[in-house]
Amino acid sequence: MTTDVAVYPGSFDPLTNGHVDIIRRGLKVFDRVVVAVATNIRKQSLFSKEERIHLVQETFADEPRVEAATFEGLLVDYMRRRGATAVIRGLRAVSDFEYEFQMANVNRKLLPQMETLFLMTGEEHFYVSSHIVRELAYLGGDVTGLVPPVVAEHLRRKMEQR
Ligand code: PNS
Repeated sequence: MTTDVAVYPGSFDPLTNGHVDIIRRGLKVFDRVVVAVATNIRKQSLFSKEERIHLVQETFADEPRVEAATFEGLLVDYMRRRGATAVIRGLRAVSDFEYEFQMANVNRKLLPQMETLFLMTGEEHFYVSSHIVRELAYLGGDVTGLVPPVVAEHLRRKMEQR
């Protein structure tokens, strides 16, 4: 491994404790982790990119090795601009594999020197996803323990504005 910076791209809509777990695991392997908030054109977002970045920054306020950033367009172009070659993605269940396999291979075709590293979330996070968190929040369910406290607070406020 020659790089000490990894990019962790995703929608992070919102950041969950599963994402936090992957970022912390990434910090064991890399010196720095860039959490790159992107637009997934297949999904409509609840939080704006600015809000999502803010939530990452708040959650990792005491961890200078985590940077929150955003990018438009292709991940490979962002990787080129950053001079980064390692991407981190989290894997929960077998169901994640097909989508991740497709993305990693498309990215490798577009930028052969790029490596995607998959980190497994802790088992307590296997069932947590941003999608489930959004659904719980919409329907008035308790998201405590699924997201960082600052995210829970922002979700509560967002739901009040509806
Ligand atoms: O958290 P998500 O929604 O699963 O993250 C998906 C994301 C944002 C990493 C992916 O959609 C992405 O890389 N988007 C940027 C556009 C791109 O590079 N697409 C080609 C690879 S599929």
